[in-house]
Amino acid sequence: MPFKTISQCNATSARAGILTTAHGSIETPIFMPVGTQATVKAVTPEELEGVGAQIILGNTYHLYLRPGVAVIGLFGGLHGFMQWRKPILTDSGGFQVFSLAQLSRISEEGYAFQSHLDGGARHVLTPEGAVDVQMALDSDIMMCLDQCIAHPADHPTAAAALALTSRWARRCKARWEAAGGRNQLFGIVQGGMYADLRRQSVAEIVDIGFPGYAVGGLSVGEPKPLMMEMAAHTLPLLPADAPRYVMGVGTPQDLVEMIAMGADMFDCVMPTRNARNGQLFTSAGTLNINNARYRTDTGPIDPLCDCYTCRRYSRAYVRHLLQAKEILAHRLTTLHNLRFYLNLVKQARMAILEGTFDDFRRRFAPGGASSHN
Ligand code: GUN
Ligand code: ZN
Repeated sequence: MPFKTISQCNATSARAGILTTAHGSIETPIFMPVGTQATVKAVTPEELEGVGAQIILGNTYHLYLRPGVAVIGLFGGLHGFMQWRKPILTDSGGFQVFSLAQLSRISEEGYAFQSHLDGGARHVLTPEGAVDVQMALDSDIMMCLDQCIAHPADHPTAAAALALTSRWARRCKARWEAAGGRNQLFGIVQGGMYADLRRQSVAEIVDIGFPGYAVGGLSVGEPKPLMMEMAAHTLPLLPADAPRYVMGVGTPQDLVEMIAMGADMFDCVMPTRNARNGQLFTSAGTLNINNARYRTDTGPIDPLCDCYTCRRYSRAYVRHLLQAKEILAHRLTTLHNLRFYLNLVKQARMAILEGTFDDFRRRFAPGGASSHN
């Protein structure tokens, strides 16, 4: 098994583990910075390693459309192309077709869509095609093609999407095995906001059998308490000996709460996208650096942060760069927010190893010392 739990929290379902991939091991729980277009926006691979990134996420949909696998294949895959030598997880494209593509039509075969780039070209993304592209990218962890639905969706709609996701998961696994079963392929649980469908989805995906499992279909427009309820219901149903990945989540508190539920892996655009808008995560909560109150603030973004930005620059300077639309602003704020997220999961892991995770978690509860809204 490529995943080993090395410590389990007594008070919660949190665990610390090691996930082994073809490009090295990952210490879990882990956050994966989002590198959609073969780059985590504004930062270099060396800077990513510097803030503690162990694995990044790439997107099949974007890279298939541009620059295409013919170009990335010249470099033996995504690692060589973008010069990131550590593990890469790629999403399958289903979610991106759902959220970005025009006129996406779904059938048993797959997704028929028109590219969001050239507006005209027609493409079909099948479960087999999604695996083929991810194999060509030499992704360490590939994701099955799935159908993610928006909230709200009625029970029959959610049941149909779950069933299609299971049939596609079977086809993805068959393609992966036929190609030699290299690297890893994770299954994705769907089921909308229905507890019975989540349970059914877990049963079907686990029955097919994968080296890891993701909870998809969260953060799709539902209220936060419902998202947490679905995660709390679904995560314990997944096998304890495989990694559990919550897709597209979340805030610092969401991560801590879901680590307590037994989640091991996360990805989210929040730290990187919000950085570029000036929303910064700190040990005292979030702040918007565009606010006039920071115009003359000579202190660092977060006095407790050890990132390059906080060691060198003031809030007043970072605010000035953002206001002046200087590109350095994006680099500095991205480095800080990624450092915050990666430090957060590292602290959570250390707390699990030291047996103090329950105390750590309480600090992040609403009203706690480190609470964020
Ligand atoms: N990213 C966030 N949510 C999802 C999901 O449900 N499926 C996939 N494939 N990617 C996601
Ligand atoms: Zn910092």
